[in-house]
Amino acid sequence: MRISLAVIPGDGIGPDIVAQAVRVLDRIGEIYGHDFSYRTLLAGGAAIDRTGVPLPDETLQAAKESDSVLLGAVGGPKWDDVPSHLRPEKALLGLRGGLGLFCNLRPAMLYRQLADACPLRSELVEGGLDVMVVRELTGGIYFGKRGRTDDEAYDTMSYTKGEVERIAVKAFEIAMKRNGRLTSVDKANILETSRLWRATVDEVAKAYPDVTVNHLYVDNAAMQLVRNPKQFDVILTENMFGDILSDEASMITGSIGMLPSASLRSDSFGMYEPIHGSAPDIAGQDKANPLATILSVAMMLRYSFDLKAEADALEMAVDRTLDQGWRTADIFTEGMRLCGTKAMGQAVVDNLE
Ligand code: IPM
Ligand code: MG
Repeated sequence: MRISLAVIPGDGIGPDIVAQAVRVLDRIGEIYGHDFSYRTLLAGGAAIDRTGVPLPDETLQAAKESDSVLLGAVGGPKWDDVPSHLRPEKALLGLRGGLGLFCNLRPAMLYRQLADACPLRSELVEGGLDVMVVRELTGGIYFGKRGRTDDEAYDTMSYTKGEVERIAVKAFEIAMKRNGRLTSVDKANILETSRLWRATVDEVAKAYPDVTVNHLYVDNAAMQLVRNPKQFDVILTENMFGDILSDEASMITGSIGMLPSASLRSDSFGMYEPIHGSAPDIAGQDKANPLATILSVAMMLRYSFDLKAEADALEMAVDRTLDQGWRTADIFTEGMRLCGTKAMGQAVVDNLE
Protein backbone atom coordinates (compact mmCIF):
# COMPACT_ATOMS: atom_id res chain seq x y z
CA MET A 1 0.00 0.00 0.00
CA ARG A 2 1.06 3.59 -0.60
CA ILE A 3 0.08 5.70 2.38
CA SER A 4 0.69 9.41 2.77
CA LEU A 5 0.60 10.67 6.32
CA ALA A 6 0.40 14.11 7.84
CA VAL A 7 2.75 14.19 10.82
CA ILE A 8 2.26 16.84 13.48
CA PRO A 9 4.99 16.51 16.12
CA GLY A 10 3.71 19.52 18.10
CA ASP A 11 5.32 20.65 21.35
CA GLY A 12 7.35 19.38 24.27
CA ILE A 13 8.09 15.68 23.93
CA GLY A 14 5.93 15.53 20.76
CA PRO A 15 8.91 15.51 18.37
CA ASP A 16 10.76 12.91 20.50
CA ILE A 17 7.95 10.37 20.52
CA VAL A 18 6.76 10.95 16.97
CA ALA A 19 10.28 10.31 15.66
CA GLN A 20 10.18 6.82 17.19
CA ALA A 21 6.70 6.11 15.85
CA VAL A 22 7.83 7.07 12.35
CA ARG A 23 10.84 4.84 12.68
CA VAL A 24 8.64 1.92 13.64
CA LEU A 25 6.30 2.65 10.70
CA ASP A 26 9.22 2.71 8.31
CA ARG A 27 10.30 -0.71 9.51
CA ILE A 28 6.77 -2.04 9.10
CA GLY A 29 6.80 -0.64 5.57
CA GLU A 30 10.01 -2.54 4.83
CA ILE A 31 8.80 -5.80 6.28
CA TYR A 32 5.31 -5.80 4.78
CA GLY A 33 6.00 -3.90 1.57
CA HIS A 34 4.18 -0.62 2.21
CA ASP A 35 5.32 2.79 1.19
CA PHE A 36 4.70 5.37 3.92
CA SER A 37 5.41 8.98 3.07
CA TYR A 38 5.27 11.82 5.55
CA ARG A 39 4.50 15.50 5.44
CA THR A 40 5.50 17.27 8.65
CA LEU A 41 3.13 20.04 9.70
CA LEU A 42 3.00 22.73 12.34
CA ALA A 43 0.33 22.94 15.04
CA GLY A 44 0.07 24.04 18.67
CA GLY A 45 2.70 26.16 20.36
CA ALA A 46 5.24 25.39 17.65
CA ALA A 47 2.84 26.93 15.12
CA ILE A 48 2.15 29.95 17.35
CA ASP A 49 5.88 30.63 17.55
CA ARG A 50 6.41 30.33 13.80
CA THR A 51 3.17 31.68 12.33
CA GLY A 52 1.27 33.44 15.12
CA VAL A 53 -1.66 31.01 15.08
CA PRO A 54 -2.10 27.53 16.65
CA LEU A 55 -3.52 25.92 13.52
CA PRO A 56 -2.28 27.43 10.25
CA ASP A 57 -4.60 26.97 7.25
CA GLU A 58 -1.83 25.13 5.49
CA THR A 59 -1.75 22.49 8.25
CA LEU A 60 -5.48 21.84 8.10
CA GLN A 61 -5.41 21.77 4.30
CA ALA A 62 -2.47 19.35 4.15
CA ALA A 63 -4.05 17.16 6.82
CA LYS A 64 -7.22 16.98 4.71
CA GLU A 65 -5.20 15.88 1.71
CA SER A 66 -3.42 13.12 3.62
CA ASP A 67 -4.61 9.57 4.28
CA SER A 68 -4.39 10.04 8.07
CA VAL A 69 -2.73 12.18 10.71
CA LEU A 70 -0.18 11.21 13.35
CA LEU A 71 0.07 13.75 16.15
CA GLY A 72 2.48 14.00 19.09
CA ALA A 73 1.22 16.48 21.68
CA VAL A 74 0.50 20.17 21.83
CA GLY A 75 0.69 22.86 24.49
CA GLY A 76 2.90 23.87 27.37
CA PRO A 77 3.34 26.59 29.98
CA LYS A 78 5.13 28.79 27.48
CA TRP A 79 1.79 29.56 25.81
CA ASP A 80 -0.36 29.75 28.95
CA ASP A 81 -0.73 33.50 28.72
CA VAL A 82 -1.81 33.81 25.11
CA PRO A 83 -5.45 34.86 24.49
CA SER A 84 -7.93 31.97 24.52
CA HIS A 85 -8.54 31.92 20.77
CA LEU A 86 -4.79 31.48 20.21
CA ARG A 87 -4.12 28.77 22.75
CA PRO A 88 -2.35 25.61 21.50
CA GLU A 89 -5.42 23.54 22.48
CA LYS A 90 -7.30 25.40 19.76
CA ALA A 91 -5.23 23.46 17.27
CA LEU A 92 -6.68 20.19 18.54
CA LEU A 93 -10.23 21.45 18.43
CA GLY A 94 -9.64 22.93 14.97
CA LEU A 95 -8.28 19.63 13.67
CA ARG A 96 -11.10 17.60 15.22
CA GLY A 97 -13.79 19.96 13.95
CA GLY A 98 -12.12 20.78 10.64
CA LEU A 99 -11.51 17.15 9.78
CA GLY A 100 -14.91 16.03 11.07
CA LEU A 101 -13.46 13.51 13.54
CA PHE A 102 -16.55 12.85 15.62
CA CYS A 103 -15.53 9.51 17.09
CA ASN A 104 -12.75 9.33 19.65
CA LEU A 105 -11.54 5.94 20.82
CA ARG A 106 -9.59 5.82 24.05
CA PRO A 107 -8.69 2.33 25.17
CA ALA A 108 -7.67 2.00 28.81
CA MET A 109 -5.66 -1.18 29.12
CA LEU A 110 -3.71 -2.57 31.98
CA TYR A 111 -0.61 -4.29 30.67
CA ARG A 112 0.10 -7.39 32.71
CA GLN A 113 3.80 -6.41 32.86
CA LEU A 114 2.79 -3.09 34.44
CA ALA A 115 0.02 -4.33 36.69
CA ASP A 116 1.83 -3.01 39.77
CA ALA A 117 1.32 0.55 38.55
CA CYS A 118 -2.43 0.22 38.96
CA PRO A 119 -3.48 2.31 41.96
CA LEU A 120 -6.51 0.09 42.67
CA ARG A 121 -6.48 -2.97 44.91
CA SER A 122 -5.28 -5.92 42.86
CA GLU A 123 -8.48 -7.97 43.30
CA LEU A 124 -10.39 -5.18 41.52
CA VAL A 125 -8.35 -5.66 38.35
CA GLU A 126 -7.69 -9.39 38.65
CA GLY A 127 -7.20 -10.83 35.16
CA GLY A 128 -6.58 -7.45 33.57
CA LEU A 129 -8.53 -4.41 32.61
CA ASP A 130 -9.59 -3.45 29.12
CA VAL A 131 -12.09 -0.63 28.72
CA MET A 132 -12.78 1.25 25.51
CA VAL A 133 -14.06 4.78 25.99
CA VAL A 134 -15.92 6.00 22.89
CA ARG A 135 -16.15 9.76 23.19
CA GLU A 136 -18.20 12.01 20.91
CA LEU A 137 -15.66 14.59 19.74
CA THR A 138 -17.14 17.31 17.58
CA GLY A 139 -20.33 18.29 19.39
CA GLY A 140 -21.67 19.21 22.79
CA ILE A 141 -20.39 21.99 24.98
CA TYR A 142 -16.96 22.06 23.32
CA PHE A 143 -18.47 23.32 20.08
CA GLY A 144 -21.64 25.05 21.31
CA LYS A 145 -22.34 28.75 21.42
CA ARG A 146 -20.46 30.57 24.15
CA GLY A 147 -20.25 34.12 25.36
CA ARG A 148 -18.92 36.40 28.02
CA THR A 149 -19.71 39.84 29.40
CA ASP A 150 -18.09 41.48 32.40
CA ASP A 151 -20.23 39.64 34.90
CA GLU A 152 -21.71 36.71 33.03
CA ALA A 153 -20.48 33.83 30.89
CA TYR A 154 -22.15 30.88 29.21
CA ASP A 155 -21.35 27.77 27.21
CA THR A 156 -24.04 25.68 25.59
CA MET A 157 -24.37 21.96 25.12
CA SER A 158 -26.43 20.85 22.18
CA TYR A 159 -26.70 17.66 20.17
CA THR A 160 -28.71 16.67 17.16
CA LYS A 161 -30.17 13.21 16.90
CA GLY A 162 -27.95 12.54 13.90
CA GLU A 163 -24.84 13.37 15.89
CA VAL A 164 -25.83 10.94 18.62
CA GLU A 165 -26.79 8.24 16.14
CA ARG A 166 -23.51 8.21 14.26
CA ILE A 167 -21.36 7.94 17.40
CA ALA A 168 -23.71 5.32 18.86
CA VAL A 169 -23.39 3.22 15.71
CA LYS A 170 -19.59 3.39 15.99
CA ALA A 171 -19.73 2.31 19.64
CA PHE A 172 -22.08 -0.60 18.94
CA GLU A 173 -19.90 -1.79 16.07
CA ILE A 174 -16.92 -1.75 18.39
CA ALA A 175 -18.83 -3.53 21.16
CA MET A 176 -19.69 -6.28 18.65
CA LYS A 177 -15.99 -6.86 18.03
CA ARG A 178 -15.24 -6.86 21.77
CA ASN A 179 -17.21 -8.38 24.61
CA GLY A 180 -20.64 -7.17 23.54
CA ARG A 181 -21.30 -4.88 26.49
CA LEU A 182 -21.99 -1.19 26.10
CA THR A 183 -22.52 1.36 28.86
CA SER A 184 -23.91 4.68 27.73
CA VAL A 185 -23.10 7.50 30.12
CA ASP A 186 -25.21 10.66 30.42
CA LYS A 187 -26.90 12.98 32.88
CA ALA A 188 -30.46 12.26 31.80
CA ASN A 189 -31.86 13.16 35.23
CA ILE A 190 -30.87 16.77 34.52
CA LEU A 191 -29.91 17.48 30.92
CA GLU A 192 -32.23 17.59 27.93
CA THR A 193 -29.32 16.67 25.63
CA SER A 194 -28.85 13.55 27.74
CA ARG A 195 -32.50 12.56 27.38
CA LEU A 196 -32.14 12.79 23.60
CA TRP A 197 -28.87 10.88 23.90
CA ARG A 198 -30.43 8.06 25.90
CA ALA A 199 -33.48 7.69 23.67
CA THR A 200 -31.30 7.67 20.56
CA VAL A 201 -28.90 5.07 21.96
CA ASP A 202 -31.88 2.84 22.79
CA GLU A 203 -33.13 3.20 19.24
CA VAL A 204 -29.76 2.34 17.72
CA ALA A 205 -29.51 -0.60 20.13
CA LYS A 206 -32.43 -2.34 18.38
CA ALA A 207 -30.16 -3.09 15.44
CA TYR A 208 -27.61 -4.76 17.76
CA PRO A 209 -29.48 -7.45 19.72
CA ASP A 210 -26.18 -9.13 20.61
CA VAL A 211 -24.94 -6.12 22.54
CA THR A 212 -26.04 -5.72 26.15
CA VAL A 213 -26.76 -2.05 26.87
CA ASN A 214 -27.04 -0.20 30.13
CA HIS A 215 -27.20 3.49 30.99
CA LEU A 216 -25.40 5.21 33.84
CA TYR A 217 -25.44 8.78 35.06
CA VAL A 218 -22.02 10.31 34.73
CA ASP A 219 -21.46 10.81 38.47
CA ASN A 220 -22.26 7.17 39.10
CA ALA A 221 -20.06 6.10 36.17
CA ALA A 222 -17.13 8.03 37.66
CA MET A 223 -17.65 6.15 40.90
CA GLN A 224 -18.14 2.73 39.28
CA LEU A 225 -14.90 3.12 37.35
CA VAL A 226 -12.91 3.01 40.56
CA ARG A 227 -15.28 0.76 42.48
CA ASN A 228 -15.52 -2.04 39.90
CA PRO A 229 -13.83 -1.18 36.60
CA LYS A 230 -14.18 -4.71 35.23
CA GLN A 231 -17.92 -4.23 34.75
CA PHE A 232 -17.09 -2.04 31.73
CA ASP A 233 -16.38 -3.09 28.18
CA VAL A 234 -17.34 -0.14 25.94
CA ILE A 235 -18.26 3.22 27.48
CA LEU A 236 -20.14 5.51 25.09
CA THR A 237 -20.48 9.14 26.07
CA GLU A 238 -20.66 12.76 24.94
CA ASN A 239 -17.73 15.09 24.50
CA MET A 240 -17.11 16.58 27.93
CA PHE A 241 -18.11 13.54 29.97
CA GLY A 242 -15.77 11.56 27.74
CA ASP A 243 -12.95 14.01 28.36
CA ILE A 244 -13.27 13.50 32.09
CA LEU A 245 -14.02 9.78 32.19
CA SER A 246 -11.22 8.94 29.77
CA ASP A 247 -8.71 10.63 32.05
CA GLU A 248 -10.09 8.67 34.97
CA ALA A 249 -10.01 5.40 33.03
CA SER A 250 -6.41 6.01 31.98
CA MET A 251 -5.35 6.80 35.52
CA ILE A 252 -6.64 3.51 36.87
CA THR A 253 -4.25 1.70 34.53
CA GLY A 254 -1.46 3.67 36.20
CA SER A 255 0.43 3.91 32.90
CA ILE A 256 -0.73 6.94 31.01
CA GLY A 257 2.48 6.81 28.96
CA MET A 258 1.17 3.61 27.38
CA LEU A 259 -2.23 4.68 26.11
CA PRO A 260 -3.04 5.51 22.47
CA SER A 261 -6.10 7.08 20.90
CA ALA A 262 -7.85 7.33 17.57
CA SER A 263 -10.16 10.04 16.29
CA LEU A 264 -12.29 8.82 13.43
CA ARG A 265 -15.11 9.72 11.10
CA SER A 266 -17.28 7.56 8.85
CA ASP A 267 -14.67 6.90 6.15
CA SER A 268 -11.25 5.43 6.85
CA PHE A 269 -9.50 8.71 7.67
CA GLY A 270 -8.29 9.19 11.23
CA MET A 271 -6.05 11.16 13.52
CA TYR A 272 -3.94 9.19 15.97
CA GLU A 273 -2.20 10.46 19.07
CA PRO A 274 -1.10 9.38 22.53
CA ILE A 275 -3.50 10.47 25.25
CA HIS A 276 -0.77 11.97 27.40
CA GLY A 277 0.36 15.57 27.19
CA SER A 278 3.47 17.34 25.98
CA ALA A 279 5.53 16.97 29.20
CA PRO A 280 7.68 20.05 28.48
CA ASP A 281 9.86 19.36 31.54
CA ILE A 282 11.45 16.35 29.85
CA ALA A 283 11.29 17.53 26.22
CA GLY A 284 14.32 16.77 24.08
CA GLN A 285 16.02 14.76 26.81
CA ASP A 286 15.44 11.27 25.43
CA LYS A 287 13.31 10.43 28.47
CA ALA A 288 9.74 10.30 27.17
CA ASN A 289 7.91 7.03 26.69
CA PRO A 290 7.18 6.58 22.97
CA LEU A 291 4.96 3.52 23.44
CA ALA A 292 1.62 5.37 23.51
CA THR A 293 2.49 6.96 20.17
CA ILE A 294 3.74 3.67 18.77
CA LEU A 295 0.51 2.00 19.91
CA SER A 296 -1.41 4.84 18.25
CA VAL A 297 0.32 3.81 15.03
CA ALA A 298 -1.02 0.29 15.60
CA MET A 299 -4.52 1.76 15.89
CA MET A 300 -3.90 3.65 12.65
CA LEU A 301 -2.89 0.49 10.82
CA ARG A 302 -5.97 -1.27 12.14
CA TYR A 303 -8.67 1.39 11.84
CA SER A 304 -7.61 3.47 8.85
CA PHE A 305 -5.79 1.01 6.63
CA ASP A 306 -7.27 -2.32 7.67
CA LEU A 307 -3.76 -3.75 8.06
CA LYS A 308 -4.61 -6.21 10.79
CA ALA A 309 -1.52 -8.40 10.57
CA GLU A 310 0.73 -5.35 10.76
CA ALA A 311 -1.20 -3.92 13.72
CA ASP A 312 -1.11 -7.26 15.55
CA ALA A 313 2.61 -7.60 14.89
CA LEU A 314 3.27 -4.14 16.25
CA GLU A 315 1.24 -4.72 19.39
CA MET A 316 3.04 -8.01 19.90
CA ALA A 317 6.37 -6.26 19.48
CA VAL A 318 5.43 -3.82 22.23
CA ASP A 319 4.32 -6.69 24.42
CA ARG A 320 7.63 -8.46 23.88
CA THR A 321 9.55 -5.26 24.57
CA LEU A 322 7.81 -5.02 27.94
CA ASP A 323 8.46 -8.71 28.57
CA GLN A 324 12.16 -8.08 27.98
CA GLY A 325 12.07 -5.53 30.77
CA TRP A 326 12.60 -2.33 28.76
CA ARG A 327 11.17 0.61 30.71
CA THR A 328 11.31 4.34 30.26
CA ALA A 329 11.43 6.30 33.52
CA ASP A 330 7.64 6.76 33.78
CA ILE A 331 7.04 2.99 33.93
CA PHE A 332 10.31 1.93 35.51
CA THR A 333 10.35 -0.35 38.53
CA GLU A 334 13.21 -2.00 40.41
CA GLY A 335 14.96 -4.77 38.48
CA MET A 336 13.82 -3.58 35.05
CA ARG A 337 15.99 -2.14 32.24
CA LEU A 338 15.79 1.64 32.34
CA CYS A 339 15.98 3.09 28.83
CA GLY A 340 15.43 6.30 26.91
CA THR A 341 13.00 7.22 24.16
CA LYS A 342 15.26 6.11 21.32
CA ALA A 343 16.29 2.83 22.91
CA MET A 344 12.63 2.02 23.49
CA GLY A 345 11.85 2.73 19.84
CA GLN A 346 14.80 0.55 18.83
CA ALA A 347 13.62 -2.30 21.05
CA VAL A 348 10.20 -2.25 19.38
CA VAL A 349 11.82 -2.19 15.93
CA ASP A 350 14.03 -5.14 16.89
CA ASN A 351 11.02 -7.05 18.17
CA LEU A 352 9.20 -6.55 14.89
CA GLU A 353 11.63 -8.84 13.09
C1 IPM B 1 -8.12 15.81 25.53
C2 IPM B 1 -7.69 17.16 26.04
C3 IPM B 1 -8.36 18.20 25.17
C4 IPM B 1 -9.86 18.06 25.38
C5 IPM B 1 -7.92 19.63 25.39
C6 IPM B 1 -6.43 19.79 25.37
C7 IPM B 1 -8.57 20.55 24.40
O1 IPM B 1 -7.99 17.30 27.38
O2 IPM B 1 -7.85 15.50 24.37
O3 IPM B 1 -8.70 15.06 26.32
O4 IPM B 1 -10.40 18.62 26.34
O5 IPM B 1 -10.50 17.39 24.58
MG1 MG C 1 -8.73 15.53 28.28
